[in-house]
Amino acid sequence: MAIREIIEVPDPRLKQVSAPVTAFDAELKTLVADMLETMYDAPGIGLAAIQVGVPLRVLVIDLQPEDPDAEPVACDHDGHHHHHQPTKKDPRVFINPEILDPSEEHSIYQEGCLSVPDIYAEVERPAAVRVRWQDLDGKVHEEAMEDLMATCIQHEMDHLEGILFIDHLSRLKRNMALKKLEKLRKAA
Ligand code: NI
Repeated sequence: MAIREIIEVPDPRLKQVSAPVTAFDAELKTLVADMLETMYDAPGIGLAAIQVGVPLRVLVIDLQPEDPDAEPVACDHDGHHHHHQPTKKDPRVFINPEILDPSEEHSIYQEGCLSVPDIYAEVERPAAVRVRWQDLDGKVHEEAMEDLMATCIQHEMDHLEGILFIDHLSRLKRNMALKKLEKLRKAA
């Protein structure tokens, strides 16, 4: 596994439409392992393959990444001492995801993106979606998602179409966000 470089705006690759995965092979497994490691390192809760420069329809999401600063919790059962992290990783992998029936009801979340660092803005999206996707072995799954998971997967799926969360904002707000990013970069 390796941490890959996350590309940032205005890299033109972020506007690319990603291609469906057709080979469920070792190379795909390596890509997914690297994406998870890159996402946890950033840290972030979601990452699309194009964000590491690979134009394939692959997403990883974990809404509860381990807190690297958390103290391990010691617990004692069956006579042995174990050290457990207080929060558990829940990595999810979505290959060739599709949205089947977005709800008419919308919700608003404050979103951010590893490719648009330090910029946050409220985005309105369908509150619930049904998602169909394939796993690393090509097996098809379907699940109803709501709340943060629904928002997160829609944000990540936008990346597959070359769309960033700031593209959902008015032109004025988007330009303000990009100017702020430029200022932050100059200050760094
Ligand atoms: Ni993003």
